Amino acid sequence: MSVAAIVVAAGQGERFGGPKQFAVLDHDSVTGHSVRASRSVAERVILVVPMNYQGHGEGADAVVVGGSTRAASVRAGLLECGDVDVVVVHDAARPMASAALFQAVVGAVLAGADGAIPGLAITDTVKRIVRDGEATVVGETVARDELVTVQTPQAFRRELLEKAHAASDDATDDAALVEAIGGRVVVVAGEVDNVKITVPGDLLKASAIGMKR
Ligand code: CTP
Ligand code: MG
Repeated sequence: MSVAAIVVAAGQGERFGGPKQFAVLDHDSVTGHSVRASRSVAERVILVVPMNYQGHGEGADAVVVGGSTRAASVRAGLLECGDVDVVVVHDAARPMASAALFQAVVGAVLAGADGAIPGLAITDTVKRIVRDGEATVVGETVARDELVTVQTPQAFRRELLEKAHAASDDATDDAALVEAIGGRVVVVAGEVDNVKITVPGDLLKASAIGMKR
């Protein structure tokens, strides 16, 4: 079965204070690391960039301009995927995802799932909050053994992912769109070291993770 990867790098990096995906990390751009990891499973890697991108593709096979939302950027990438069987979508901002993680999500789809995503158990206690006049108070403590936080890479049958994106406009991840049309999304073990660069301090975290490898 054929696999393509879409690396979405068309964000503005508002919380970081600039285009974090092109910051330098261990002799390559953050996105360069993400493209390289995607290659471990994909014969074709499509990079989705902001309109004002002036780089040389960060090692990807094709470069397309993204949209104003993450989902719109994924859709721009999907147009370049051709008729591959499986598409894996990865945030450029997660440069430390391992080849093994890519293989795990793609493997789950090859084994029959509609989609597969990495999930991490929550270690903090989680509470639902409610407003009480001026105050924020606890509504209830949530059973955290039923909850995971979710990462990329996320893998899907291409036809289903296209259908999911055609059916709905936006969501925080692709799995939510596939779930919304009834797809069966398998959760594989995520990686603690698969940090997302969100604020400047995250670059230091990623650098420290790279050094211990
Ligand atoms: N992304 C994208 N197109 C958008 C928005 C986001 O391709 N319109 C990409 C980002 O480049 C990033 C990934 O989606 O690799 C996850 O998004 P996030 O971490 O939120 O990055 P930004 O949107 O750039 O950051 P911020 O929300 O702080 O502006
Ligand atoms: Mg964002």
